[in-house]
Amino acid sequence: MSSTSTSGPSVRQSAHQFRCIACAHVSDSAEQDFRCGNCGDLLEIIYPYWKEGTPDPPQVKFIWQDRKVSFSPIDLSGVWRFRDVLPMLEKAEEAVTLREGNTPLYELPQCSRITGVPRLFAKHQGMNPTGSFKDTGMTVAATFAKRAGFRWVACASTGNTSASMAAYAARAGMRSLVLVPEGKISWSKLSQALDYGAVTCQLRTDFDGCLKLLQELVRKAPVYQLNSINPFRLEGQKTLALELLEQFDWNPPDHIIVPGGNLGNSSAIGKALLEMLDLGLIPRLPKLSVIQAEGANALVRTLREAGGKRLISVPAETRATAIRIGNPASWKKAAHMLEATGGACEQVSELEMAQAKAEIGAEGIGCEPASAVTLAGLKKLVQQGFVKPDETVVLVLTGNLLKDPDFTIEFHGGEMFGDDASTAKSLELLRHPPIVLDATLDAVMRTLDQAEHS
Ligand code: F0G
Repeated sequence: MSSTSTSGPSVRQSAHQFRCIACAHVSDSAEQDFRCGNCGDLLEIIYPYWKEGTPDPPQVKFIWQDRKVSFSPIDLSGVWRFRDVLPMLEKAEEAVTLREGNTPLYELPQCSRITGVPRLFAKHQGMNPTGSFKDTGMTVAATFAKRAGFRWVACASTGNTSASMAAYAARAGMRSLVLVPEGKISWSKLSQALDYGAVTCQLRTDFDGCLKLLQELVRKAPVYQLNSINPFRLEGQKTLALELLEQFDWNPPDHIIVPGGNLGNSSAIGKALLEMLDLGLIPRLPKLSVIQAEGANALVRTLREAGGKRLISVPAETRATAIRIGNPASWKKAAHMLEATGGACEQVSELEMAQAKAEIGAEGIGCEPASAVTLAGLKKLVQQGFVKPDETVVLVLTGNLLKDPDFTIEFHGGEMFGDDASTAKSLELLRHPPIVLDATLDAVMRTLDQAEHS
């Protein structure tokens, strides 16, 4: 039984084990590189005692709901609120939390009209404490890093992981080391890592090069790695799906669409869906689909050209720097989740992504470029007949609009796609460039009048 429940009756919580996703070898502990000691593949966390002490669905749903009115820090976290299906804490106070999770589910009426899907929603993970979905995984992984007694944590990142890791490390009193590709992450994300006190190294390589180096480092130095190779991260990120299903009163939507980079998030959401089905929390699975940028389409190619059997790495290039990844670590996990849920994998162009981002922005909620691939991808999935107009669709918006202001300003300023006249025309109605005027009432009145009649 949970020793950490602070409100409502307690339910059983299970000790976890690590299982290799390739050879299924099970162990009670993991090496610092979080790879299988037998075959070197990735590990996942399993809860072998769930079979004996499965939480009773109505009871556990009630407890999760009940914790929302508690003032205890662990209940105020939208991640630890679901602790009955997470690795077990010894005591509530050990959770390193910034009140992550509990993110809004928005309707998207304008995007509904554009796509022809009336029941279209956005689950906005950009509303997390550091502005991205990474916080939901980081609270769990940072907690277990601290418990293991590490002084240093480290990650390779395209920006959001580093911002999140630096914040949670600071809260936990640990030092943090960030490896990011020089010149290829947004200033907003870099500034977060600096402010939260990380030792921030801008390496002359890409994300894949940073991750490779980190993997070597953790074998040599007492540093705890917080990339999504670390399966504790994915356990925390699972709660996105739990919270989403709760927001739908446990009636699953037909589709969940998520951007794909290193493919940890799609793996986590898929794992949560399968576990929820297994525990009897939901009656059926939503289809989980992954959308990538055309210039960073390793999973798309892996599924189309290699039947998901071996990874096809690509030299990654996209303005959505968050997903500028060519050698995704969790490709096998994600490929399995798409197969298990019957989801699709699509790619979108830079133009399609930029347009979709402006369309989401016009709803008054906004997101960062990588998140917008979900809407652009949905348009394609509707065209292909994979998503039907009468189905319920949820787009996972992974990062906040303010994460990459340069992108937004370049787009609205008309600098993004150069002088291509046909492109400019197709984006004209979406662009709202800033207007420089003399500081006179007349000039402002004229601008207002022009805008009214344009
Ligand atoms: N969206 C955003 C905003 C991201 O920051 C990332 C990944 C993704 C989508 C893709 O998620 O990797 O789980 O498939 N950002 C990582 C980082 C790689 O370092 O911040 P994924």
